[in-house]
Amino acid sequence: MKTIFITGGATGIGEASVRKFLDEGWNVGFMDLNAAQAVRNIEKLNLPDRLLFIEGDTRKRDDLKRAVNAVVEKFGGIDSVFANAGIHRCNTILDISDEELDLMVQTNIYGTVNTLRETIPFLIKAGGGSVVINASDQWFVGKPHSFAYGMTKGALGQITRSLAIDLGKYGIRVNAVCAGTIHTPLVDNLFEKFSKAENKSVAEYWEEENALYARGKVGTPEEVAELVYFLASDKASFCTGGH
Ligand SMILES: NC(=O)c1ccc[n+]([C@@H]2O[C@H](COP(=O)([O-])OP(=O)(O)OC[C@H]3O[C@@H](n4cnc5c(N)ncnc54)[C@H](O)[C@@H]3O)[C@@H](O)[C@H]2O)c1
Repeated sequence: MKTIFITGGATGIGEASVRKFLDEGWNVGFMDLNAAQAVRNIEKLNLPDRLLFIEGDTRKRDDLKRAVNAVVEKFGGIDSVFANAGIHRCNTILDISDEELDLMVQTNIYGTVNTLRETIPFLIKAGGGSVVINASDQWFVGKPHSFAYGMTKGALGQITRSLAIDLGKYGIRVNAVCAGTIHTPLVDNLFEKFSKAENKSVAEYWEEENALYARGKVGTPEEVAELVYFLASDKASFCTGGH
């Protein structure tokens, strides 16, 4: 039975991915800051033999060490990792504070790098595996008021390509998911902020966002989880360095 380690698995894309991998028969270990939501989820799923939650902050390497060791101890190893935890804040280069810049870099870049540094040795030990990084369409397109988000997601692009080259010889594939807008709490929170500032309802923002997509609807966390599963599984044996 295969095992995946997922960061940010309490809500949104991470939570849908936890469910997808469990549905496919994998063991899942996941870490998140939001212990209250994670505990509600695991109680509902009720799969104690195949699911492990560890509270932790990806900005802290020691938290990741503790989480990854707990997963290895319970399931015997790690075959795939989904570095998913990330945050968004609205800013431009003109108004971002030092604290917010630091928060974005620490969470989206260091959080991902910490996750990879702690898990990849176990993938090597397993004789190979798959790394999936949750980047964004802002890896390659600019969007308004998303200076730090775009900057950090761009960095994940180069991390993906560089790791794909360095880790190929260990049988490790490295790919990124670069979704457009997905209906999750991350975007709900963003629209709530806009809504207060611009006196427009959150529903109106969703309507406008849906209209930007060819099918008339943004993505769902479950749709992204399908791609994450494909990339993490042996079905994607020829895919590496991609997005
Ligand atoms: N929603 C979108 O439109 C969209 C599009 C492309 C990419 N993404 C990316 O997908 C990933 C997941 O986002 P989402 O939309 O599902 O958001 P979300 O807010 O629903 O989920 C993010 C999860 O990560 C956790 N988290 C945040 N910081 C953490 C930290 N330091 N340590 C541990 N856990 C932490 C949160 O508690 C939360 O459970 C992010 O990296 C985001 O940038 C989202």
